[in-house]
Amino acid sequence: MGVAIIGGTGLTRLDYLKITHREVVHTPYGEPSAPITHGILHGREVLFIARHGYAHTIPPHRVNYRANLWALQHLGVDRLFAVAAVGGIHEAMAPGHIGFPDQIIDYTWGRHHTFIEDDLTHVTHVDFTYPYDEAMRQLLIASAQEVGLDAVERGTYGATQGPRLETAAEIRRMKQDGCDMVGMTGMPEAGLARELSIAYASCTVVVNWAAGLQPGPISMDEIGRHLHTGMERVRGLLGALIPRL
Ligand code: HPA
Repeated sequence: MGVAIIGGTGLTRLDYLKITHREVVHTPYGEPSAPITHGILHGREVLFIARHGYAHTIPPHRVNYRANLWALQHLGVDRLFAVAAVGGIHEAMAPGHIGFPDQIIDYTWGRHHTFIEDDLTHVTHVDFTYPYDEAMRQLLIASAQEVGLDAVERGTYGATQGPRLETAAEIRRMKQDGCDMVGMTGMPEAGLARELSIAYASCTVVVNWAAGLQPGPISMDEIGRHLHTGMERVRGLLGALIPRL
């Protein structure tokens, strides 16, 4: 079955992907962020979608997560790797580092976060105790080791609403809650993948210290710099990951 990658900020296209075609998918939930790219990456068929659109025009709270996930499943995807920029909260999550979260706390609101809504014959609940697929996380960990990437192998991802960054007090609270990193797209993406039984894991790229963890405001220039180096590392990681699939 199919493997897909969702690219976040800084990864609107995949280097080395030999594109075969792009496919527009209309879904019962509206339009995905972009047409789905079909291609060959390191010898394997892979689908790719840019979460924020190929021109990076869709902010995190306006991403049509349901359409993206539905479209990927419609095209046969059953394993999905997400790439996402985050702010670092745990001291190991310094800017430039890569992390593979194993837990989530969801602080988002007002997003279409479920497929379980209308025209139900009965209400169902999905297990979400372990929100990320452990086998896929282990593949990420092994691939990082193979390329000598010093990745943080677990951690709790706090999903915030955005698009603004957090206040220092919000980050203090999130740290107390047990969050190790903060991003704006991890939910509802992971939950929707679970509802569709798509195995899902995330590779996060730390692009800044979260609000208040260093003196002064967060510098957008600094975010840009770490995004660039972090995504280079992700490309190296994918080079080891894809042949393992
Ligand atoms: N907060 C939320 N999302 C983010 C951050 C942050 O500090 N950095 C990158 N994505």
